[in-house]
Amino acid sequence: MISRRNFLARAGALAAGAALQNTASHAQAHRQAPAVTPLDPGTLSRYVDPLPIPEVLRSRELRANPRNPANRLPYYRVAMREVVTKLHRDLPPTRMWGFNSTSPGPVIEARSGEGILVEWANELPAHHFLPIDHTLCGAEADKPEVRSVIHLHGGRTPASDDGYPEDWVVPGKSLLYHYPNRQDAALLFYHDHTMGINRLNIYAGLQGLYIIRDQAEDALNLPRGKYEVPLLLCDRALRSDGQLDYPVSGDPKSPWVPEIYPKAMLANGKLFPYLEVEPRKYRFRMLNGSNARFFRLSIGDLQEMHLIGADQGLLSAPASAKRILLGPAERTDFVFDFSAHAGKNLLLQSDSFEILQFRVASTGSKDTSALPATLRSVARIPEGRAVKTRRLTLDEAVDKVQNSMGMTLNKTPWDMPVTEKPVVNSTEIWELVNLTEDTHPIHLHLVRFQILDRRPFDVFAYQDTGELRFYGPPAAPGVDEAGWKDTVRCERGTVTRIIVPFEPYTGRYVWHCHILEHEDNEMMRPFEVVQKA
Ligand code: C2O
Ligand code: CU
Ligand code: CU
Repeated sequence: MISRRNFLARAGALAAGAALQNTASHAQAHRQAPAVTPLDPGTLSRYVDPLPIPEVLRSRELRANPRNPANRLPYYRVAMREVVTKLHRDLPPTRMWGFNSTSPGPVIEARSGEGILVEWANELPAHHFLPIDHTLCGAEADKPEVRSVIHLHGGRTPASDDGYPEDWVVPGKSLLYHYPNRQDAALLFYHDHTMGINRLNIYAGLQGLYIIRDQAEDALNLPRGKYEVPLLLCDRALRSDGQLDYPVSGDPKSPWVPEIYPKAMLANGKLFPYLEVEPRKYRFRMLNGSNARFFRLSIGDLQEMHLIGADQGLLSAPASAKRILLGPAERTDFVFDFSAHAGKNLLLQSDSFEILQFRVASTGSKDTSALPATLRSVARIPEGRAVKTRRLTLDEAVDKVQNSMGMTLNKTPWDMPVTEKPVVNSTEIWELVNLTEDTHPIHLHLVRFQILDRRPFDVFAYQDTGELRFYGPPAAPGVDEAGWKDTVRCERGTVTRIIVPFEPYTGRYVWHCHILEHEDNEMMRPFEVVQKA
C-alpha cells in the first residue's frame, strides 16, 4: 500500500489541484524532488512506437486434469508479476502488474471443445501500489493487501474454476483452473476478479485476451495470421514520471471514486502507437478493457467497418458500421478493407481521442481472404421458451460514509443470501430496470444471452408505484448486438430485456456491472444455477 503519509500527500495534492509529490521523505518533497504532475497525454509525440502484438502462449506440457485424472490436457503456467514497461518512447518506464512479463498478458488460444489447464500463479509483490479502500466489502483492513483470482470473461467454465471473487490467493500461491472451451469461437479475456480491489488490480494491468477458434470459423477464410489483429484498448491516467495514477476521493479513509475517465488511451499497452498495414482486408478483434469508459470507435473519416462478431462470437451476417460503441468488457470483431487507402494514414479514434495510426503501404501481397455474406446461424430464442421472468433493478444509493453515490443490483448488497437461482438448462428472461443516471454494462458469468429489446420508462412513476409505465415502444438491439452477448449496455431510464439459457453447469456464479468502480462497491451479486428440484 502507499504509505499513509504519501497517500495523504496525494489526496491533498489532488484535492488542491496541485502537483503530486512522490518521494520517500516528506522533508525532501518540499526541498528538492522534481515536481511530479499529472501528464497531459496530448503533449506527447504521436505515432512513434509500433503497436505491440501480444505473444501467443504455447503449452509445452500435458497434465492430468485434477478433477478427471485420466484426461491429460495442455497445461500453462501464467505468473502475475510486477512488470516495468515503456508505454511511450518519451516516457520513463511504468510500473504495472502483468502476466509473465507483459501487460496486457499474452494471448491464450484454444480450440472449441479442447480443454486446457491454466495455473494462475500469484507472484505479485507484498504491497499494493494503488489506493485500497478498506471500507469496501471484501477489502477490509484485515484482508491481505495483495490478493488475486483470475476469471475468464465469457468462458463457459465450471463454477469451481470460474474465479469466484472470494476465491483469491495471496502472493506465493496459485490456482489451477480447467477451461473446457465447450463453446463457439469467440474473443474472451481473462482478468482479475478479487473482491473489493478488482478495479485496482485490473487498472494495474491484470488482463489479457483469450481466443477460442473452431472449424466453422476457420472455414470462412476470414483474414488471419498477421492480418488478424488483437487489440486491447483501455484508458489510464499517467503522471509526468511515467507512473500510473489512480484518482482518489478527497477522503483518505475512503479513497474509492464512483467512475474514472483517464485520458491516456493505451492500445495493447502503448500510447499513440502505429501499425503498418498492407492495402487489403484485416480482421480486428477488440476489447474495451477500460474501468469505466465507453468507446465510440471510428476509423479515418468514418470509413465503413464490416462488423462480423460481438462478445460471444460471430454474427449471422456482416453488418456495416461507421462507429462502434463498446462498453467496458464488450468485444467487437470487424473487417476493415485498407485497399482503397493505399499509401495513406488512417486513425482509429474514440470520439476525439486518437488511439492508433494505420500506415497503409502502397502495395502488398495478394489478398486471398474473404468476407462471406453469411457467417454463422444465430437462431433467435423465442420468448416463449423462457420459464421465468425476473425483474431486477439497477439502483443508486447514497453512501452514508462518503456522502456520494453508490450502486446496487436489486437494492441488495453482496452479502445477502443468493436470490437468483435459475434451474440448469432452463431459459429465463431478465428485465434490467435501470433507475440510475448512468449506462451500466451488465455481465453474467457462465452464460451467453441474446438481447430482446430496450424500452424507456418513467423512473419516478416506477419509484412511486413499482409499476413500469413506458414512454414508447421497445427498440430492437443494434446490428452490433444481434449475436450472442455476455455483457449488455443498460441505458439510463430504460428497461433492457435479455433472454438467457442457463447451461451447462450448476453452481455459484456472479453477475455485475462491468464499470469496475461500481462492481467493487456493491454492484455485484451472486447467482446460483441449481438442479431441478
Ligand atoms: Cu469480466 Cu465478472 O467479469
Ligand atoms: Cu465474466
Ligand atoms: Cu455500473
